[in-house]
Amino acid sequence: MIPQSFIQELLARVDIVDVVERYVPLKKAGANYQACCPFHSEKTPSFTVSPSKQFYHCFGCGAHGSAIGFLMEYSGLSYPDAIEELARHAGMAVPREEFSPEMAQQRKLAASLTEVMARAAQFYKQSLKKTPRAIDYLKGRGLTGEIAARFGIGYAPDDWQSLRETFDDYEAPALSECGLVIDAEPSEGQQKGRRYDRFRDRIMFPILDGRNHVIGFGGRVLDRGEPKYLNSPETPLFSKGRELYGLTQARNAIRDDGFVLVVEGYMDVVALAQFGVGNAVATLGTATTPEHIHKLFRQTDRIVFCFDGDRAGRKAAWRALESALPELNDGRVASFLFLPTEHDPDSFVREQGADRFRQLALSAQPLSEYLLHELQSRCDTRSAEGRARFVSEARPLVTKMPAGALRTQLMHLLAPAVGLSAQELAEALGLRLPRRSGRFNAPPPPAAPRVPPSTPARKLLCMLMQRPALGGRIGHLENIEDDPWLQAVQAVADSIEHGDIDTRHSAGFAEHFRDGPHGPLIDEAIAAAIEDPADEGALPHMFEDTLQHLRRTEISRAINHLTALSRQSPLSAEQQAELGRLLREKART
Ligand code: UTP
Ligand code: MN
Repeated sequence: MIPQSFIQELLARVDIVDVVERYVPLKKAGANYQACCPFHSEKTPSFTVSPSKQFYHCFGCGAHGSAIGFLMEYSGLSYPDAIEELARHAGMAVPREEFSPEMAQQRKLAASLTEVMARAAQFYKQSLKKTPRAIDYLKGRGLTGEIAARFGIGYAPDDWQSLRETFDDYEAPALSECGLVIDAEPSEGQQKGRRYDRFRDRIMFPILDGRNHVIGFGGRVLDRGEPKYLNSPETPLFSKGRELYGLTQARNAIRDDGFVLVVEGYMDVVALAQFGVGNAVATLGTATTPEHIHKLFRQTDRIVFCFDGDRAGRKAAWRALESALPELNDGRVASFLFLPTEHDPDSFVREQGADRFRQLALSAQPLSEYLLHELQSRCDTRSAEGRARFVSEARPLVTKMPAGALRTQLMHLLAPAVGLSAQELAEALGLRLPRRSGRFNAPPPPAAPRVPPSTPARKLLCMLMQRPALGGRIGHLENIEDDPWLQAVQAVADSIEHGDIDTRHSAGFAEHFRDGPHGPLIDEAIAAAIEDPADEGALPHMFEDTLQHLRRTEISRAINHLTALSRQSPLSAEQQAELGRLLREKART
C-alpha cells in the first residue's frame, strides 16, 4: 500500500492544471481552466479544471477527479501507476518500504524489465540505421524515416545472440522474463541450454503502454518466412489481450477526429499514419477483447472497426462485435468498415488515398445493421425454423447489451426480419422494452437531472468542499445514521481534526476517501462546488446557518423521539437526562 500521507503530499506538490495540460490544451476561464472534454465528444468546452480544488469536472458527461484520477482515466493507468507517474514528474519517490514484500519484489521486477525493454528497443533502432537491407524494406513499403522514428521502428540483426552487444550480462534472467531471448532445452549432460535471441532478422515494432514504456515487440520477417509476425510472449509487462498497438501515437488524432479506427495489423497502423490517418490502432494478432473496447471507449465514444475483406477479417469483425456489445452504453457508437476482399487498410490507403479511406470510415456500417445482416445471412428467415434460429442466435448477443435506447432500437430493427413486433421479440428474448417506445422514432425520455434535490446535509458537504477549512467548526453531529450526506460531513470533519488531510485543496479529500462509502458523495460535492459555487463572501455565514439549521432539526427530531417514547412508558433516568440536555441545547440554538 502507498501511505495516504504520501498521496496528500503528492497532491500538494503537483498542480492538476500542469498535469492535464500535458495532454489537453486548456484555456483560462475565470478562476478555472476549460477545454473540450477528452472523455466525450463535444463542440463547446464543458470540461473544467479547478486549480483551487485541484479537481477536474465535466458538466457534460460528469467525468471528474483529482490529478491521480485524471491520469487513470486519460492514460488508462492503474492507481499505483498513476501515482508513480505523478511522483516521477514531481521528482518524488513513492515510498516503497510500505509495500508488502511480494509487491515490492514485483514492482522492482517490473521496473528492471522496463529498463531492459527500453534498452533493447534502443538497440534495435540503432541496428536499423546500420542495415541498408532493412531500411530498403521499409522504404519499399512507402515509409519515411520520420514515421519510422515516430513509431520507434527498429531491426533485429540476423544473428543468434546479437543482444550480447547491448547487454553486458546476456545470461541475466530479466532477458528471458521479457521474452527477448529463448532458453533452449539443455542437451544431455548440460545444466543449462544455450540461450538465443527470440527476434532475428526482423523489422521490430515496439509496443508501448500508457506511460510510453516499451512493453513488447512485434517482429516482421523481411522476406518470406514463417511466422510472418512474431510477437512478444505474455510477460509481467505485456498482455496482448489488454494492449493495443499505436494507441500512444494515435491519442491526439483520436481526439481531433472524434473516433478511433481499429485495424488488424502493425503495418496498417503505420501506413495509415504515413498517409495522414493518425487515429488508428491495432489489436496484436488476437481477437478484440472487451478490455480493448473498454480502453478505447475511455478515449472516444466512436469506434470504427476496419478489418480486411477476407474470411479472417469477417471473423475478426464478429468477435469485435461480441466484445463491443456490453460496452455500448447510450451515446457510444461502434461501426464496421469492410474493405474489398483484396485489400487491407495499408494497401487500400496506398492505392486510393487517405481522403477516400476517411470517407469510407465515416460511412461505415453501424453495428446494429451489421448484426442484422449477419444474422440474416446465417438463418433463412423464409421458414419458421429459420426465424426461430434467428431469435435464438440473437438472444446471447442482445442480452449482453446494457439496457438503453440502443438496445431498444435494435429490437425494433431486428423484429421485422422475423415477422414479430418489437414487443414480441423482446419477450421472446426474455427482455422488457421500456413502455412508450413503440414507435421507431419515439423521442428519447428526458434526461434525469444529474444534480439530486439539495438537502441541508448535501449543501453542507458542497460548501465544505468549496472551502474545507470550514470543517473545523463542525465538531460532533447527532443522529447521522440515516443520512449518508451527514455521515460524509462527519467523516470529513473527523479527518480534518486528525490532521490527515491537506485542507487547502478538496482533491485531498477525494483521494483520502477514494474507495470508501463516502467517496462518491465527496466527489459529487467537489464537482458541484466547481459547477455551481456559493458566493465566496457569503460562504462562512451560509455554512454556519446551514449547520445551525441542521443541528436544530436533529435536536427537534431527538426530542420528538423521546417525548413519543415517554407517552408509551416512563423514560429511564438516562433518557430523562438526555431529554433535559436536548431541551437546553434547543434553547441555546
Ligand atoms: P496480416 O498477415 O494481415 O499482416 O496480419 P499485415 O499487417 O497485412 O502485414 P503485412 O502488410 O504483410 O506486413 C495481421 C496481424 O496479425 C498478426 C500481426 O499482429 C499482424 O499485424 N499476425 C499475423 C501474427 O501475429 N502472426 C503472423 O504470423 C501473422
Ligand atoms: Mn498488409
